[in-house]
Amino acid sequence: MSVPAGVDPAAAFAARFGRPPEGVWAAPGRVNLIGEHTDYNDGYVLPVALPHSTVAAVARTAEPELVLASVQYPDQPVRVALDALAPGAPDGWAAYPAGVVHQLRREGHRLSGLQVLVDGQVPVGAGLSSSAALTCSVALALRDLFALPLRRAELVDVARAAENDFAGAPTGVLDHSASLLCTVGHALLLDTRDRSTTQVPLDLAAAGLALLVLDTGAPHQLATGGGPDSYARRRQECGEAAAALGVPSLREVSDPAAVQALPEPLRRRARHVVTENARVLAVLEVLRSGTDPRAVGPLLTAGHRSLREDFAVSTPALDVCVDAAVRAGAHGARMVGGGFGGSALALVDDRHVPAVRAAVAEASRAAGHRAPTAFVVVPSAGARRVE
Ligand code: GLA
Repeated sequence: MSVPAGVDPAAAFAARFGRPPEGVWAAPGRVNLIGEHTDYNDGYVLPVALPHSTVAAVARTAEPELVLASVQYPDQPVRVALDALAPGAPDGWAAYPAGVVHQLRREGHRLSGLQVLVDGQVPVGAGLSSSAALTCSVALALRDLFALPLRRAELVDVARAAENDFAGAPTGVLDHSASLLCTVGHALLLDTRDRSTTQVPLDLAAAGLALLVLDTGAPHQLATGGGPDSYARRRQECGEAAAALGVPSLREVSDPAAVQALPEPLRRRARHVVTENARVLAVLEVLRSGTDPRAVGPLLTAGHRSLREDFAVSTPALDVCVDAAVRAGAHGARMVGGGFGGSALALVDDRHVPAVRAAVAEASRAAGHRAPTAFVVVPSAGARRVE
């Protein structure tokens, strides 16, 4: 559902609850430059924060209950006693903010009742982590309001637990880390094995380049559930591959030849993870060397091929976007996020952005898909208090 431009979250909160909020917090979605399906294999990821955020206006109350409202779902306000919070109650969009409250209480933090109004500006179902933007905005709000002794890296785990354990969405640590730890003008290198982070300067505009996101509008529905083409199945396959190789995780494998002995499909799944970790390090090398960042492009396209052929998480609509973008002059392109729908990313010369957009729209329509929604992304700020 789209949001009317210019909704003021504090004013929307006041209209809904009859008093101003105590504060307003924003947390962004993310797009991962490279390092897909590596986060649950102890590998590397390199996301940037989107300019699009979810905003949470919040106030504490004396009543021991949680009242949740959303600009996007005005007909679905939720009111639930703090002690009645449990996975499934509430469900739907409200499970994400409620999960944060529940998780903090489980960890022993004392919270009062709350009124929360959220305004989500991250496209939903686009593989751009709208749900992490939601959980992270609320997590940061509650940390600040209740002066909880939690570092951002610890809030990552709170937000992730809310999503995994309460909302029932099995994600890795990529999305919440990106939303809480990214900084403006940088990509975030996260080593998910030891959780160390490095801010990597990423000024593509200075090189005349743009990161173009192409949202196919096909929600990544297949990703849920445990069927043969699901996020859960891919995680399971990676775990089986690691076990068969006798290592705690696929991160421990750096030689792609080491996966040859595995049976299919484990061989291809493992090969993706091993080569993808190498691609993250290769992208990093380009960005740090001060050479032309256009050299990142072919690594993105190689990543797409690997996600399509080895990891089998792409879709025909995503493949059309990637192929058309590269044919129209993008330096490289790939699907992003969990896959089975969602968005692609293309590295494009500034001046070629209109031509690449047009070519992708035309190729998509010709193949019977809808033209994607396209927008340029600059590495933006992580979660923050805005009022
Ligand atoms: C989804 C998950 C992330 C990560 C990506 C794939 O976005 O939420 O944790 O596994 O897929 O890289």
